[in-house]
Amino acid sequence: MSVDKTSQPIKPLRIAVLVSGSGSNLQVLIDAMQAGALPIEIVGVISNREDAYALTRAKDANIPVAVLSHVASGKRMGIKTFEAHANEQLVAWQPDLIVLAGFMRVLSGSFIDNAPAPMINLHPSLLPVYKGLDTHQRVLQAGDRYHGCSIHKVTAELDAGQVLTQAVLSVDINDTAESLQSRVQKLEHKLLPWTILLLAKSVLSLEAESTSQANQYLPTLPLQLFITS
Ligand code: GAR
Repeated sequence: MSVDKTSQPIKPLRIAVLVSGSGSNLQVLIDAMQAGALPIEIVGVISNREDAYALTRAKDANIPVAVLSHVASGKRMGIKTFEAHANEQLVAWQPDLIVLAGFMRVLSGSFIDNAPAPMINLHPSLLPVYKGLDTHQRVLQAGDRYHGCSIHKVTAELDAGQVLTQAVLSVDINDTAESLQSRVQKLEHKLLPWTILLLAKSVLSLEAESTSQANQYLPTLPLQLFITS
């Protein structure tokens, strides 16, 4: 259990992480947890792909994993079956928070509503612009000056829940979709732990009535960061 500056022990936030790919964001959370830099306990990782490198990262850190592959023996697992297994696993792990970190399946409203904890998603654009896929390419095509990533509450509508935090970069004249992806990922690796810290310390809340953070002394959401290092 970590101790904050006022010497008050903080109960670790139990986090389940859903992944589909490399898991570089998961790795940042694992590193921060192991260093005692974030008051979290990663209670399990669910992947919808058995070849996701994120699974290796979780296993190396002795974190329980569940592989609910979207294709098994050549047959595609329907979303309803995936969601039933995922819900059962999440209920068993009892997380306080579910983090979608590069999770590429669209989840149904009933799964989200019946999940045992609120869910946040990391998305590679400055929402509400560029929901969905190919965000870096779309930014370049539109000639946007700014780009970045967002962390939002997950609701039934894709990438449309309350945006909590964003990190912003200036698009460079020489940027390509690949360079933007790499630059945005560097921002994500700061934004995700930072946002989870704010949630763990109850500075940010995912309660339905307080997500607007209706406090006249605080800026309205999303909190926007220009991260310089
Ligand atoms: C991240 O860049 C994240 O923003 C994106 O997938 C990547 C996963 O990277 N998520 C989405 O596009 C969700 N719509 P990682 O597996 O290395 O953490």
